[in-house]
Amino acid sequence: MEVTPAVQIDHLVKDFPSPFRKSKVRAVDDVSLTIMPGEVYGLIGPNGSGKSTTMKALLGLLAPTAGSCHVFGKNSMKTDSRQEIGFLPENPYFYKHLSGEETLRFYAKLCGMRGKEVKSRVEEMLEMVSLQDARKRRLGGYSKGMLQRIGLAQALIHAPRLLILDEPTAGVDPVGSRLIRDLIVGLKGRGVTIFLCSHLLEQVQEVCDNVGIIFNGKIVKEGKLAELIAIESQTEVVIKNASPRTLARIRDVISESQSAEFVREGKPKTTLERIFLEEARKSDADNGPPPPEEPAPPTATQPQEKGDPHA
Ligand SMILES: Nc1ncnc2c1ncn2[C@@H]1O[C@H](COP(=O)(O)OP(=O)(O)OP(=O)(O)O)[C@@H](O)[C@H]1O
Ligand SMILES: [Mg+2]
Repeated sequence: MEVTPAVQIDHLVKDFPSPFRKSKVRAVDDVSLTIMPGEVYGLIGPNGSGKSTTMKALLGLLAPTAGSCHVFGKNSMKTDSRQEIGFLPENPYFYKHLSGEETLRFYAKLCGMRGKEVKSRVEEMLEMVSLQDARKRRLGGYSKGMLQRIGLAQALIHAPRLLILDEPTAGVDPVGSRLIRDLIVGLKGRGVTIFLCSHLLEQVQEVCDNVGIIFNGKIVKEGKLAELIAIESQTEVVIKNASPRTLARIRDVISESQSAEFVREGKPKTTLERIFLEEARKSDADNGPPPPEEPAPPTATQPQEKGDPHA
Protein backbone atom coordinates (compact mmCIF):
# COMPACT_ATOMS: atom_id res chain seq x y z
CA MET A 1 0.00 0.00 0.00
CA GLU A 2 1.29 3.44 -0.88
CA VAL A 3 2.03 5.66 2.12
CA THR A 4 0.58 9.17 1.97
CA PRO A 5 3.32 11.75 2.53
CA ALA A 6 2.99 13.88 5.66
CA VAL A 7 3.97 16.92 3.61
CA GLN A 8 3.75 17.32 -0.13
CA ILE A 9 4.70 20.67 -1.62
CA ASP A 10 4.42 20.82 -5.41
CA HIS A 11 5.93 23.65 -7.43
CA LEU A 12 5.01 26.23 -4.82
CA VAL A 13 5.34 29.85 -5.89
CA LYS A 14 4.52 32.79 -3.65
CA ASP A 15 4.67 36.42 -4.77
CA PHE A 16 4.19 39.43 -2.55
CA PRO A 17 3.36 42.87 -3.92
CA SER A 18 6.31 45.22 -3.54
CA PRO A 19 5.32 48.61 -2.11
CA PHE A 20 8.11 50.52 -3.87
CA ARG A 21 8.26 48.78 -7.22
CA LYS A 22 5.78 47.73 -9.81
CA SER A 23 7.26 44.25 -9.83
CA LYS A 24 6.44 41.67 -7.19
CA VAL A 25 8.73 40.03 -4.65
CA ARG A 26 8.97 36.30 -5.41
CA ALA A 27 9.47 34.89 -1.91
CA VAL A 28 9.11 31.22 -2.94
CA ASP A 29 10.07 30.15 -6.43
CA ASP A 30 8.97 26.70 -7.59
CA VAL A 31 9.64 24.79 -4.38
CA SER A 32 8.79 21.09 -4.31
CA LEU A 33 9.46 18.83 -1.37
CA THR A 34 8.08 15.72 0.23
CA ILE A 35 8.29 14.63 3.85
CA MET A 36 7.26 11.09 4.67
CA PRO A 37 5.57 10.24 8.00
CA GLY A 38 8.06 10.00 10.86
CA GLU A 39 10.79 11.97 9.09
CA VAL A 40 12.48 15.08 10.39
CA TYR A 41 13.10 17.58 7.59
CA GLY A 42 15.26 20.66 8.06
CA LEU A 43 14.95 23.66 5.76
CA ILE A 44 17.98 25.91 5.95
CA GLY A 45 18.73 29.15 4.15
CA PRO A 46 19.73 32.76 4.76
CA ASN A 47 17.39 35.47 6.03
CA GLY A 48 14.67 36.26 3.54
CA SER A 49 15.17 33.09 1.49
CA GLY A 50 11.56 31.95 1.83
CA LYS A 51 11.58 29.46 4.71
CA SER A 52 8.79 31.02 6.76
CA THR A 53 6.74 31.75 3.64
CA THR A 54 6.98 28.08 2.61
CA MET A 55 5.82 27.03 6.08
CA LYS A 56 2.96 29.53 6.09
CA ALA A 57 1.78 28.26 2.72
CA LEU A 58 1.89 24.70 4.04
CA LEU A 59 -0.18 25.82 7.02
CA GLY A 60 -2.72 27.48 4.73
CA LEU A 61 -1.96 30.88 6.28
CA LEU A 62 -0.90 32.16 2.85
CA ALA A 63 -2.53 31.26 -0.44
CA PRO A 64 -0.01 30.03 -3.05
CA THR A 65 0.45 32.16 -6.16
CA ALA A 66 0.98 28.86 -7.98
CA GLY A 67 1.50 25.24 -7.00
CA SER A 68 0.00 23.42 -4.05
CA CYS A 69 0.65 22.10 -0.55
CA HIS A 70 -0.83 18.99 1.04
CA VAL A 71 -0.70 17.71 4.62
CA PHE A 72 -1.41 13.97 4.92
CA GLY A 73 -3.12 14.19 1.56
CA LYS A 74 -5.32 17.19 2.41
CA ASN A 75 -4.95 20.47 0.58
CA SER A 76 -3.55 23.17 2.86
CA MET A 77 -6.19 25.65 1.75
CA LYS A 78 -8.83 23.41 3.36
CA THR A 79 -9.16 24.00 7.11
CA ASP A 80 -9.35 20.30 8.00
CA SER A 81 -5.72 19.87 6.87
CA ARG A 82 -4.68 21.82 9.98
CA GLN A 83 -6.11 19.35 12.51
CA GLU A 84 -3.00 17.20 12.32
CA ILE A 85 -0.54 20.11 12.59
CA GLY A 86 1.19 21.72 15.54
CA PHE A 87 2.94 25.00 14.76
CA LEU A 88 5.50 27.08 16.57
CA PRO A 89 5.82 30.35 14.65
CA GLU A 90 8.95 32.43 14.24
CA ASN A 91 7.74 35.14 16.62
CA PRO A 92 5.00 33.54 18.70
CA TYR A 93 2.57 35.94 20.31
CA PHE A 94 1.13 35.01 23.67
CA TYR A 95 -1.26 36.68 26.07
CA LYS A 96 1.22 38.11 28.56
CA HIS A 97 -1.24 38.26 31.46
CA LEU A 98 -1.92 34.51 31.35
CA SER A 99 0.23 32.05 33.29
CA GLY A 100 1.92 29.11 31.57
CA GLU A 101 -0.74 26.76 32.85
CA GLU A 102 -3.62 29.05 31.78
CA THR A 103 -2.07 29.43 28.35
CA LEU A 104 -1.93 25.69 27.79
CA ARG A 105 -5.44 25.24 29.16
CA PHE A 106 -6.64 27.92 26.73
CA TYR A 107 -5.06 26.16 23.75
CA ALA A 108 -6.27 22.74 24.88
CA LYS A 109 -9.84 24.07 24.97
CA LEU A 110 -9.37 25.73 21.60
CA CYS A 111 -8.46 22.30 20.27
CA GLY A 112 -11.74 20.91 21.57
CA MET A 113 -10.54 19.20 24.75
CA ARG A 114 -12.71 19.31 27.85
CA GLY A 115 -12.59 18.46 31.59
CA LYS A 116 -10.08 15.87 32.76
CA GLU A 117 -8.47 15.58 29.37
CA VAL A 118 -7.46 19.28 29.54
CA LYS A 119 -6.00 18.85 33.02
CA SER A 120 -3.97 15.74 32.26
CA ARG A 121 -2.74 17.03 28.92
CA VAL A 122 -1.65 20.38 30.42
CA GLU A 123 0.23 18.50 33.17
CA GLU A 124 1.91 16.28 30.62
CA MET A 125 2.99 19.23 28.47
CA LEU A 126 4.29 21.30 31.41
CA GLU A 127 6.38 18.36 32.48
CA MET A 128 7.61 17.69 28.97
CA VAL A 129 8.97 21.23 28.56
CA SER A 130 10.19 21.44 32.18
CA LEU A 131 7.97 24.37 33.15
CA GLN A 132 6.14 22.83 36.13
CA ASP A 133 7.81 25.25 38.54
CA ALA A 134 6.89 28.28 36.43
CA ARG A 135 3.32 27.18 35.75
CA LYS A 136 1.72 29.94 37.85
CA ARG A 137 3.93 32.74 36.56
CA ARG A 138 2.60 35.14 33.96
CA LEU A 139 4.10 34.82 30.49
CA GLY A 140 4.99 38.53 30.67
CA GLY A 141 7.74 37.46 33.09
CA TYR A 142 8.96 34.46 31.10
CA SER A 143 12.42 34.49 29.51
CA LYS A 144 12.86 33.93 25.76
CA GLY A 145 13.77 30.27 26.33
CA MET A 146 10.73 29.72 28.54
CA LEU A 147 8.48 31.33 25.94
CA GLN A 148 9.85 29.05 23.24
CA ARG A 149 9.18 26.05 25.46
CA ILE A 150 5.62 27.12 26.26
CA GLY A 151 5.24 27.67 22.50
CA LEU A 152 6.39 24.15 21.86
CA ALA A 153 3.98 22.81 24.48
CA GLN A 154 1.19 24.81 22.83
CA ALA A 155 2.09 23.31 19.45
CA LEU A 156 1.96 19.79 20.88
CA ILE A 157 -1.10 20.10 23.09
CA HIS A 158 -3.40 18.22 20.69
CA ALA A 159 -0.80 15.51 19.92
CA PRO A 160 -0.38 16.46 16.25
CA ARG A 161 1.11 14.06 13.73
CA LEU A 162 3.02 16.89 12.03
CA LEU A 163 4.98 19.51 13.92
CA ILE A 164 6.13 22.65 12.10
CA LEU A 165 8.83 24.60 13.91
CA ASP A 166 9.99 27.95 12.56
CA GLU A 167 13.30 28.68 14.31
CA PRO A 168 12.50 26.72 17.49
CA THR A 169 15.76 27.65 19.21
CA ALA A 170 16.16 31.26 18.05
CA GLY A 171 17.45 33.32 20.94
CA VAL A 172 17.50 30.33 23.29
CA ASP A 173 20.64 29.63 25.32
CA PRO A 174 22.64 26.42 24.74
CA VAL A 175 21.00 24.58 27.62
CA GLY A 176 17.49 25.53 26.51
CA SER A 177 18.44 24.67 22.91
CA ARG A 178 19.58 21.25 24.02
CA LEU A 179 16.31 20.69 25.83
CA ILE A 180 14.38 21.58 22.68
CA ARG A 181 16.67 19.39 20.61
CA ASP A 182 16.09 16.47 22.99
CA LEU A 183 12.35 17.05 22.76
CA ILE A 184 12.54 16.90 18.98
CA VAL A 185 14.50 13.65 19.14
CA GLY A 186 11.94 12.23 21.59
CA LEU A 187 9.03 13.22 19.35
CA LYS A 188 10.77 11.68 16.37
CA GLY A 189 11.08 8.50 18.40
CA ARG A 190 7.33 8.55 18.86
CA GLY A 191 6.79 8.83 15.12
CA VAL A 192 5.90 12.54 14.90
CA THR A 193 6.82 14.10 11.56
CA ILE A 194 8.78 17.31 12.00
CA PHE A 195 9.38 20.11 9.53
CA LEU A 196 11.72 22.72 10.95
CA CYS A 197 13.86 25.58 9.86
CA SER A 198 16.80 26.89 11.79
CA HIS A 199 19.99 28.87 11.43
CA LEU A 200 21.69 26.57 13.93
CA LEU A 201 23.16 24.16 11.44
CA GLU A 202 24.77 21.95 14.02
CA GLN A 203 21.36 21.29 15.53
CA VAL A 204 19.85 20.64 12.13
CA GLN A 205 22.63 18.16 11.52
CA GLU A 206 21.92 16.46 14.83
CA VAL A 207 18.20 15.90 14.40
CA CYS A 208 17.28 15.87 10.71
CA ASP A 209 16.95 12.90 8.36
CA ASN A 210 16.57 15.10 5.29
CA VAL A 211 17.68 18.62 4.57
CA GLY A 212 16.75 21.21 1.96
CA ILE A 213 18.84 24.31 1.32
CA ILE A 214 16.88 27.30 0.04
CA PHE A 215 18.28 30.44 -1.55
CA ASN A 216 16.23 33.27 -3.01
CA GLY A 217 13.11 31.13 -2.84
CA LYS A 218 14.63 28.15 -4.67
CA ILE A 219 15.72 24.80 -3.26
CA VAL A 220 19.33 24.57 -4.41
CA LYS A 221 20.22 21.30 -2.71
CA GLU A 222 18.17 18.59 -1.08
CA GLY A 223 18.61 15.08 0.15
CA LYS A 224 19.31 12.68 2.95
CA LEU A 225 21.61 14.29 5.46
CA ALA A 226 23.98 11.31 5.53
CA GLU A 227 24.37 11.45 1.73
CA LEU A 228 24.61 15.25 1.58
CA ILE A 229 27.52 15.41 3.97
CA ALA A 230 29.45 12.49 2.50
CA ILE A 231 32.53 13.60 0.50
CA GLU A 232 32.44 11.37 -2.54
CA SER A 233 36.05 11.85 -3.62
CA GLN A 234 37.52 10.78 -0.29
CA THR A 235 37.72 7.60 1.71
CA GLU A 236 37.83 7.36 5.45
CA VAL A 237 39.74 4.62 7.24
CA VAL A 238 38.77 4.05 10.86
CA ILE A 239 41.44 2.40 12.95
CA LYS A 240 41.09 1.03 16.44
CA ASN A 241 43.89 1.07 19.04
CA ALA A 242 46.45 2.73 16.76
CA SER A 243 49.66 4.04 18.37
CA PRO A 244 51.15 7.37 17.14
CA ARG A 245 53.91 5.39 15.40
CA THR A 246 51.33 3.41 13.50
CA LEU A 247 49.50 6.63 12.66
CA ALA A 248 52.69 8.12 11.19
CA ARG A 249 53.24 5.13 8.94
CA ILE A 250 49.60 4.62 8.22
CA ARG A 251 49.49 5.56 4.55
CA ASP A 252 52.27 3.13 3.60
CA VAL A 253 52.03 0.31 6.05
CA ILE A 254 48.40 -0.19 7.02
CA SER A 255 48.47 -3.70 5.68
CA GLU A 256 51.70 -4.55 7.60
CA SER A 257 50.79 -2.85 10.88
CA GLN A 258 50.82 -5.09 13.94
CA SER A 259 48.71 -3.08 16.37
CA ALA A 260 46.22 -1.44 14.05
CA GLU A 261 42.92 -3.08 13.41
CA PHE A 262 40.92 -2.29 10.33
CA VAL A 263 37.38 -1.48 11.43
CA ARG A 264 35.45 -0.13 8.46
CA GLU A 265 35.70 1.89 5.29
CA GLY A 266 33.45 4.82 4.44
CA LYS A 267 33.05 8.44 3.47
CA PRO A 268 34.37 11.11 5.78
CA LYS A 269 31.77 13.75 6.54
CA THR A 270 31.82 17.41 5.88
CA THR A 271 29.43 19.59 7.81
CA LEU A 272 26.11 21.11 6.88
CA GLU A 273 27.65 24.45 7.67
CA ARG A 274 30.23 23.95 4.96
CA ILE A 275 27.68 22.93 2.34
CA PHE A 276 25.55 25.90 3.35
CA LEU A 277 28.46 28.33 2.96
CA GLU A 278 29.40 26.84 -0.41
CA GLU A 279 25.87 27.36 -1.67
CA ALA A 280 25.87 30.89 -0.20
CA ARG A 281 29.06 31.66 -2.09
CA LYS A 282 27.58 30.37 -5.36
CA SER A 283 24.36 32.27 -4.79
CA ASP A 284 26.19 35.50 -3.91
CA ALA A 285 28.48 35.32 -6.94
CA ASP A 286 26.10 37.56 -8.91
CA ASN A 287 24.99 39.72 -6.02
CA GLY A 288 28.17 41.09 -4.49
CA PRO A 289 31.44 40.15 -2.84
CA PRO A 290 31.63 36.51 -1.69
CA PRO A 291 31.81 35.63 2.01
CA PRO A 292 35.32 34.79 3.31
CA GLU A 293 36.84 31.44 2.35
CA GLU A 294 36.12 28.58 4.70
CA PRO A 295 39.15 26.85 6.19
CA ALA A 296 39.84 23.45 4.61
CA PRO A 297 38.32 20.53 6.50
CA PRO A 298 40.72 18.57 8.69
CA THR A 299 42.47 15.83 6.74
CA ALA A 300 43.17 13.58 9.72
CA THR A 301 40.26 11.25 10.24
CA GLN A 302 41.61 9.59 13.37
CA PRO A 303 41.26 11.74 16.49
CA GLN A 304 44.14 11.40 18.94
CA GLU A 305 42.93 9.61 22.01
CA LYS A 306 43.73 11.36 25.27
CA GLY A 307 44.63 8.24 27.17
CA ASP A 308 46.75 6.66 24.45
CA PRO A 309 49.68 5.06 26.34
CA HIS A 310 51.91 5.41 23.29
CA ALA A 311 51.29 9.16 22.88
N1 LIG B 1 3.85 39.46 4.16
C1 LIG B 1 4.83 39.80 3.35
N2 LIG B 1 4.71 40.85 2.52
C2 LIG B 1 5.71 41.19 1.67
N3 LIG B 1 6.87 40.51 1.56
C3 LIG B 1 7.04 39.47 2.38
C4 LIG B 1 6.05 39.06 3.31
N4 LIG B 1 6.50 37.96 3.97
C5 LIG B 1 7.73 37.71 3.49
N5 LIG B 1 8.06 38.61 2.52
C6 LIG B 1 9.30 38.64 1.75
O1 LIG B 1 9.50 37.32 1.24
C7 LIG B 1 10.87 36.96 1.30
C8 LIG B 1 11.02 35.68 2.10
O2 LIG B 1 10.68 35.94 3.46
P1 LIG B 1 10.63 34.80 4.56
O3 LIG B 1 10.09 35.43 5.80
O4 LIG B 1 9.91 33.63 4.02
O5 LIG B 1 12.16 34.45 4.72
P2 LIG B 1 12.88 33.50 5.77
O6 LIG B 1 13.70 32.55 4.98
O7 LIG B 1 11.90 32.94 6.73
O8 LIG B 1 13.86 34.52 6.52
P3 LIG B 1 14.35 34.56 8.05
O9 LIG B 1 15.50 33.60 8.14
O10 LIG B 1 14.81 35.98 8.24
O11 LIG B 1 13.21 34.21 8.94
C9 LIG B 1 11.58 38.17 1.88
O12 LIG B 1 12.08 38.93 0.82
C10 LIG B 1 10.50 38.91 2.61
O13 LIG B 1 10.78 40.28 2.66
MG1 LIG C 1 11.63 33.12 8.73
